[in-house]
Amino acid sequence: MKSTQSQKKPGKYIPHKAAAEFQPTMDWSKKEAEQFYHDRIFTFEVDVVYYSDCTNGMKKLPPESIDMIVADPPFGLNFNEMEVLYNRDSDFVAEGYTDVEIDNYADFTESWIKELPRIMKEDAGVWIFSGWTNLVDILNSLRANKLTLINHIIWKYQFGVFTRRKFVTSHYHLLFAVKDEKNYFFNKIEHYPLDVWEINRDYERGTKKNATKLPTEVVQRCIDFGSKPGDVILDPFLGNGTTSSVAKGNYRHFLGYEINQELEEIISNNINQTKLGQDYRPYSEKPDEIVKEARKKFGK
Ligand SMILES: C[S@@+](CC[C@H](N)C(=O)[O-])C[C@H]1O[C@@H](n2cnc3c(N)ncnc32)[C@H](O)[C@@H]1O
Repeated sequence: MKSTQSQKKPGKYIPHKAAAEFQPTMDWSKKEAEQFYHDRIFTFEVDVVYYSDCTNGMKKLPPESIDMIVADPPFGLNFNEMEVLYNRDSDFVAEGYTDVEIDNYADFTESWIKELPRIMKEDAGVWIFSGWTNLVDILNSLRANKLTLINHIIWKYQFGVFTRRKFVTSHYHLLFAVKDEKNYFFNKIEHYPLDVWEINRDYERGTKKNATKLPTEVVQRCIDFGSKPGDVILDPFLGNGTTSSVAKGNYRHFLGYEINQELEEIISNNINQTKLGQDYRPYSEKPDEIVKEARKKFGK
């Protein structure tokens, strides 16, 4: 009896060899990244925050001007109720969290997603966060506006609201969609990047913030895979300004909208306390765990 192994062509597949030899599609030294940042010329103002409605704001941007979008829209729920569920201390949540009636969520979603294809560059991508309750509206609007879904990522976080008669929700959806599925920017910086991300929410007790801050690590991954140094990253719903400060810390330009003027101080502090390029490291210097293990195995 022939074993399946003897039928294989010898020397073809060596486990983990590809991982050991993995190189990111694109990579830049810190000096190159900084140079790209300073060399970019724009015909519109960048590195700016507008305290206004994003739909009106985006209408004023030039066509095909944006390299990448990160959007974390409001939930369409009353956050004061959610705050009780999430067991948070309201003293540290900024006033005036603006939300949209759930009945209008489909219309609201359509109104801002409709603006995206015009302002996105041909190879640009949009990364949209959504809970499961409103996901259908976002998926419908993406399709209606001819934005093609490339990945549907599950971001799993560490805590959920206690439940008695159903499972505890402890994930978020992150949709990566593009204008042109044959020509979009994606920098494969990991050998085997999975579409489930396990990232904890960060809690800085005692700091005043918008109620729904994203962890910087989640935004950093979107920016790493979806853009290059010097690019401009738009966030229509800035909240605490997480996207803008992560962009600045990684030699990307930023542009964003926030309807709640009361968040100005929080947003400005977050951006001003971030030094240009402070978090930037070439991808070759931060290999993922699979690559690290494989390199150890092959003594690389
Ligand atoms: C889920 S939070 C964003 C949190 C943000 N990703 C962060 O990490 O801090 C949504 C934000 O959108 C803002 N917002 C709601 N409607 C808006 C609109 N039409 N235009 C601009 N901002 C809006 C809310 O005030 C809120 O701060």
